[in-house]
Amino acid sequence: MSNETPLAQKRVADDPNLDLTLRPQRWDEYIGQDLTKRNLQILIGAAQKRGEPVEHILLSGPAGLGKTSLANLIAREMNTNIRVTSGPAIERVGDLASILTNLLPKDVLFIDEAHRLNKMIEEVLYPAMESRTLDIVIGKGPSARTIQLELPPFTLIAATTRAGLLSSPLRSRFAGVFRLDFYDNDSIEKIIKRSANILSLNLEPDAIGLLAQVSRSTPRVANRLLKRVRDYAEVHGFKNINHDITLKTLGLLEIDSLGLEPMDRKILQTIIEKFSGGPVGLQSLAAASSDEEDTIEEVYEPYLLRLGFVERTPRGRVATERAYKHLGLRSPVSQKTLLT
Ligand SMILES: Nc1ncnc2c1ncn2[C@@H]1O[C@H](COP(=O)(O)OP(=O)(O)O)[C@@H](O)[C@H]1O
Ligand SMILES: [Mg+2]
Repeated sequence: MSNETPLAQKRVADDPNLDLTLRPQRWDEYIGQDLTKRNLQILIGAAQKRGEPVEHILLSGPAGLGKTSLANLIAREMNTNIRVTSGPAIERVGDLASILTNLLPKDVLFIDEAHRLNKMIEEVLYPAMESRTLDIVIGKGPSARTIQLELPPFTLIAATTRAGLLSSPLRSRFAGVFRLDFYDNDSIEKIIKRSANILSLNLEPDAIGLLAQVSRSTPRVANRLLKRVRDYAEVHGFKNINHDITLKTLGLLEIDSLGLEPMDRKILQTIIEKFSGGPVGLQSLAAASSDEEDTIEEVYEPYLLRLGFVERTPRGRVATERAYKHLGLRSPVSQKTLLT
């Protein structure tokens, strides 16, 4: 990728340290998602009372909303280790077998991007989740035989940005299924304040307000932009970060008043200009805006849907009147109204 790679794509990859420093370490540092938090605390409390591992948990929701942080918090609360892997990393049954047989009692196994697990792996996972057994086939043909291994009691926490892609047998094996929501403005402001504290930054209230406004209701974006603003202030020798510095940083990043990045606008413009506002299928949209289908669907679209700029119809994506307005374009609908 060129240096045009949008922020969103690099969010996880390019700054693991920042993610780690700012990751909530205790429940009270995990802001918002109150209902999910309360439900999880009950699952955890009940497990502790029974002296058992927590039941299996599925966390879903758009990128950057705090799934990985929650998984870590659960393990910490249970005083256990967390083993981290991901759907695409488990290629063969043997990979999964070796992960499972190396677990210690009550360990948390965290599988990120669970919707990318392949079917064969899923089928080995079912009995492991249900009855803590691992069926392994040894050999091939007539001499093949199955051996059954007993696994230590463990908790599977799976995270996915695309709950709809999980097979229903897999989904039905989780005791707790939680969908994380976008954060309200108040929570995002709290997260920014907490992060600013950790990074020893002096942020003026209206800088916090502006950052929250453009953070796409997403903690990871808030932290990322905060860091960009810090860089800008550092380079220019400012001790306090005010509204003006924040605005200049956002201008350089081409982030607009709603937090849209160039790629978001490109997607909208493509729907509007190349497909007359839609409907357009994801594949055509990806080809025309030169981005990956998955990236559009997992990184950009959730927020465009939330803003009500895009609608998903059975025939594809449609740009709404709001999107036209935001881009300063006149929508075909309003033109029609003008004519009649
Ligand atoms: N509820 C929260 N409170 C405070 N910070 C959060 C919260 N959720 C996420 N974050 C911050 O956002 C970053 C991204 O969260 P993460 O758990 O990696 O999201 P996901 O796994 O859903 O993509 C974390 O490093 C953390 O600093
Ligand atoms: Mg994650």
